[in-house]
Amino acid sequence: MVNTACVAVAAVAAFAQTAAAGTMYKRDSVPAEFVAAPYYPTPHGGWTSDWSEAYTKAHALVSSMTLAEKTNITAGTGYFMGPCVGNTGSAPRVGFPNLCLQDSALGVRSTDNVTAFPAGITTGATFDKDLILARAEAMGAEFRGKGVNIYLGPTIGPLGRQPRGGRNWEGFGADPVLQGIAGALTIQGVQSQGVIATVKHFVGYEQEMYRLYNVFMPGYSSNINDRTLHELYAWPFADSVRAGAGSLMSAYSAVNGSACSQNSYLINNVLKQELGFQGFVMSDWYGQLSGVAAALAGLDMGMPGDGEIPLLGTSYFMFELTKAALNGSVPMDRLNDMATRIVAAWYQMGQDKDYPPPNFSSNTHDATGLLYPGALFSPSGVVNQYVNVQADHAVVARQVATDAITLLKNNGSLLPLSASSPLAVFGTDAAVNPSGPNACGDRACNTGTLGMGWGSGIADYPYFDDPITALRNRSTGGVTFYNTDSFPSSASKPSADQIAVVFISSDSGENQDTVEGNHGDRDASGLVAWHNGDDLVKAVAKVYSNVVVVVHTVGPIIMEPWIDLPSVKSVLVAHLPGQEAGESLADVLFGAVSPSGHLPYSIPKEETDYPSSLDIKGFAFGQIQNTFTEGLYIDYRYLQKNSIAPRYAFGHGLSYTNFTFSNVAISVSNALTSVLPAARPSKLATPAFDLTIPPVSEALMPSGFSTIWRYLYSWISESDANSAAKAAASSTYPYPAGYTSSQQAGTDAGGAQGGNPALFEVAYALSVKVTNKGTKNGGKSVVQAYLQHPSSSPYDTPIVQLRDFAKTATLAPGSSGTLTLQLTRRDLSVWDVEQQNWLLPGLPSSTRYTIWLGEASDQLYTACYTDTLKCQSVLAGPF
Ligand SMILES: *[C@@H]1O[C@H](CO)[C@@H](O)[C@H](O)[C@H]1NC(C)=O
Ligand SMILES: *[C@@H]1O[C@H](CO)[C@@H](O)[C@H](O)[C@H]1NC(C)=O
Ligand SMILES: *[C@@H]1O[C@H](CO)[C@@H](O)[C@H](O)[C@H]1NC(C)=O
Ligand SMILES: *[C@@H]1O[C@H](CO)[C@@H](O)[C@H](O)[C@H]1NC(C)=O
Ligand SMILES: *[C@@H]1O[C@H](CO)[C@@H](O)[C@H](O)[C@H]1NC(C)=O
Ligand SMILES: *[C@@H]1O[C@H](CO)[C@@H](O)[C@H](O)[C@H]1NC(C)=O
Ligand SMILES: *[C@@H]1O[C@H](CO)[C@@H](O)[C@H](O)[C@H]1NC(C)=O
Ligand SMILES: *[C@@H]1O[C@H](CO)[C@@H](O)[C@H](O)[C@H]1NC(C)=O
Repeated sequence: MVNTACVAVAAVAAFAQTAAAGTMYKRDSVPAEFVAAPYYPTPHGGWTSDWSEAYTKAHALVSSMTLAEKTNITAGTGYFMGPCVGNTGSAPRVGFPNLCLQDSALGVRSTDNVTAFPAGITTGATFDKDLILARAEAMGAEFRGKGVNIYLGPTIGPLGRQPRGGRNWEGFGADPVLQGIAGALTIQGVQSQGVIATVKHFVGYEQEMYRLYNVFMPGYSSNINDRTLHELYAWPFADSVRAGAGSLMSAYSAVNGSACSQNSYLINNVLKQELGFQGFVMSDWYGQLSGVAAALAGLDMGMPGDGEIPLLGTSYFMFELTKAALNGSVPMDRLNDMATRIVAAWYQMGQDKDYPPPNFSSNTHDATGLLYPGALFSPSGVVNQYVNVQADHAVVARQVATDAITLLKNNGSLLPLSASSPLAVFGTDAAVNPSGPNACGDRACNTGTLGMGWGSGIADYPYFDDPITALRNRSTGGVTFYNTDSFPSSASKPSADQIAVVFISSDSGENQDTVEGNHGDRDASGLVAWHNGDDLVKAVAKVYSNVVVVVHTVGPIIMEPWIDLPSVKSVLVAHLPGQEAGESLADVLFGAVSPSGHLPYSIPKEETDYPSSLDIKGFAFGQIQNTFTEGLYIDYRYLQKNSIAPRYAFGHGLSYTNFTFSNVAISVSNALTSVLPAARPSKLATPAFDLTIPPVSEALMPSGFSTIWRYLYSWISESDANSAAKAAASSTYPYPAGYTSSQQAGTDAGGAQGGNPALFEVAYALSVKVTNKGTKNGGKSVVQAYLQHPSSSPYDTPIVQLRDFAKTATLAPGSSGTLTLQLTRRDLSVWDVEQQNWLLPGLPSSTRYTIWLGEASDQLYTACYTDTLKCQSVLAGPF
């Protein structure tokens, strides 16, 4: 159970250091070639047709709001000032409720009777679009059932650039297309339930350590060039915007030296102008660093509402935003847009009709408690109704956990095991934490089976189906379990047919907790199995001749110390399975299901196979510079360019059966007849508001209103209101260089949600018949499509890049299925920095682009060509 008082004190301590963060940073240590150019003003929302109706309604509602109502809905009411992790103010007079914002990307956090779904990385490993969508629909139903308006997910940034990065597991894998497709499907699924999805964290937030601004140092700066931003880091965000994401969370860290929560170029230009984002932008918790500057730079909602230090009653928005509007520093034009974006997202999801208010409290598990635990004197009431929202979601959770399991090695077809084989099971990772699966707050420990990483990206387990229970359930040959991470002497005499199953793990999480010396990132452990897992595997392999290694992990671990040992026959990566860890694994181990997961990252032989730019950046005086010098070359893109063979490549995953491809064909869907995309559509008119500064009366608390101490309200005193109004006449606010208040025309690359719609027209469709050539086992096959650019291209581009994937249903031995994969204009294009547009480095009808189809990034033996529209098989591959 969460002890609110302790959490509150800890939060004050943790955030006290952020005091005065807004004012004190210069960009002096950013490398000279990286600029944070100004871009003003924020484009008004409401210019795409798919949001017209919602904006029309929002315009009407916001027009009827007073100043204090508008500023009340654009920020939270303070930490612990409501049932959810974030709670906005409301406008009860016009019927606009408090909005409940709740973690996490894998399930409803800090409450009961919910499903703890498999993590993002696990979901990505399924490479199954239908399953990704089904998981999201189930999650959306749970958030709605608990009365959550805003789901704080999916996580698609970090992208997974830095293999030790602490939060990579919250996302879907180290590739922009995998993140983009999975993120968009997750938004679609969650929002189909009427819940607003929050795509996060925008952008370049690739390591945990030194992410926050505080009095000692600013958050690190991710220095990213324009092409890399477009082709890697912003790419999946474009897909999310295109999927209609209602909200977006900015990152804690900076880009090019300018904090993401107030980086006008990122929010105003890249996100809201070019990518056509119609929803609202919120800060991460305590990631807001200023009031006026942040609003002008495009931030629409401050979360959780407090200023630098929680629970002191200070805020950057709320009553300060009321002042800033009255004194003219924040134009009414901007405030109207902030409020309208929020209200439009609410209408867009249909939350104006029968949406349940929260029926749980993320502050306590008790039935009754304080309504506002952050207030010293809070009214109490019923806070938890224990609504069971699980329905049959365990089914999809288990399906994801099963279909994610990735078979890396299976020498001599040791797997699947026969139920009658006697098993010797080793490792504490095989059994649930003896103190209970939720014993560690925020899951900040690696004790027992690792089902999720730690931090805010978690949910409480309603139960935990652990591997050892499932193995005991399924095995008829007997299971001996050594619940230890060091090889027990009692285990030294195996019978000839005994099979050893060794469980090892590697954990990571968010920076506020340190686990076994790791500060969120795997800074202490590196990419090495925790708890001396390598030694355990080696010791077991010395004694047993048939060893299966099961890995629960947040990301790549180095396997070289044992992978080639002759007795290590099989290796399964079960990723982070959530609550359904046991039966899902048993299904695969005993062959009820053939493994069909694929690695959502590469496993290198040594960490030093990657460039040092991908290391976690250590302490430095001033702002830490995380310069993305490797550009487009992360994960397999880097390894392939440098001819470094990984141990297991991105996309790798074996099965208990074999598949072959036949009838491979490519066809033109929309011919690409010009190097540049067709001209963008122009913007629709956006709502027009009265822009005069409202009278001071709109800023004043109604008489007789009884306030809750420290709760954040948007009202100000009459004297403050009068002096703010007086200041408006002679406003001297020091606007940033490049500031303007006149709306700018859109960029060529924009035009709709996600960018110019011409970019998303399907250019080529590929079809492939997949046949299960095995005789014993059914299985699912994943086909991945990788693009190789023309050799004549003047753009330095990775050898191949994932562009689409598809998965078959279970194919019985001898049977086949046909898959279709698609490439759009954007998939074939590069971002041209000069032209600020996507262009083709040659017309594909006359210049050969090669689309490779295969079962992994290093298993590409079938190619289709855009110039001849022919496909060829049994080739040597692109490298
Ligand atoms: C970062 O700097 C590079 C190099 O000047 C520039 O091309 C890019 O647009 C900048 N990105 C942002 C988000 O300001
Ligand atoms: C602001 O929201 C609070 C509830 O969070 C509400 O009590 C108050 O009346 C709202 N203020 C206005 C101006 O509507
Ligand atoms: C809690 O959720 C249930 C189911 O969604 C809903 O029927 C109920 O009205 C909610 N409770 C409150 C207080 O709104
Ligand atoms: C207007 O009010 C805001 C919020 O208090 C303040 O930051 C800003 O400096 C004020 N502007 C002027 C011109 O006084
Ligand atoms: C789930 O809800 C029921 C009431 O429906 C309650 O008795 C139970 O304690 C809840 N489970 C947990 C884990 O809190
Ligand atoms: C597979 O096992 C055979 C013998 O069982 C052995 O010769 C071979 O080296 C093994 N291969 C790998 C990759 O471990
Ligand atoms: C035990 O395994 C059987 C299949 O052999 C399955 O039907 C049953 O649900 C499992 N029991 C539990 C508790 O999961
Ligand atoms: C798959 O094919 C390979 C090569 O043809 C063969 O060695 C292997 O035994 C086959 N595996 C299965 C499970 O059919």
